[in-house]
Amino acid sequence: MSAEQDSLFIRNFAIVIAGLVGITVVLVLIANIFFGTDSAEQQALAEERGAANLAPSFAVRLTGEPAPAMASAQDEAADSGVTEVRSGEQVTQAVCIACHQGNFLNAPGVGDVDGWNERIGKGWETLIGNVVNGYGNMPAQGAAASEEEIRAAIEWMIEGETGLDIPES
Ligand code: HEC
Repeated sequence: MSAEQDSLFIRNFAIVIAGLVGITVVLVLIANIFFGTDSAEQQALAEERGAANLAPSFAVRLTGEPAPAMASAQDEAADSGVTEVRSGEQVTQAVCIACHQGNFLNAPGVGDVDGWNERIGKGWETLIGNVVNGYGNMPAQGAAASEEEIRAAIEWMIEGETGLDIPES
């Protein structure tokens, strides 16, 4: 290779490099025209998303610290001090109606005056106890409703819907 060829190569190489640099500058300028106007808002959003993407998806909990969900549930319980009690109609519709609508397994239906009239002589305490613990064909309902809710359901299903009065026992 002669010295002349070398300098020719170097010149051409320099032209190509200069051309590429020129194209890069033009592309940067074009990109800036289209995308260079990020508002502060967009910038903040991008940063927020970036931070969210980088955040770990779990946190290490030290022994004895309550888990976040439990902690908030505990706070809520402490705040209100009461768990929700359903009304007699709600309990009946949710729990009792499956059997006490169509004489299922001989269960007296809602509003069945004759059917209930035979049973209510046992009095409140016995009836509530029989529902909580189960009686004959009726499985125990104590797990499905609290005693207070069962009392309300009996009140609604029997007294409310038949007009009968259940005696105290
Ligand atoms: C899985 C079906 C079923 C469900 C659910 C059910 N019962 Fe019953 N219940 C029965 C049957 C069957 C009887 C009749 C039992 C018998 O005499 O053998 C009965 C009887 C009763 C009696 C009369 C008990 C007695 O001493 O004669 C009451 C009161 C009663 N149910 C209330 C309720 C209430 C309130 C609920 C809802 C909290 C409820 N039941 C849910 C099937 C059910």
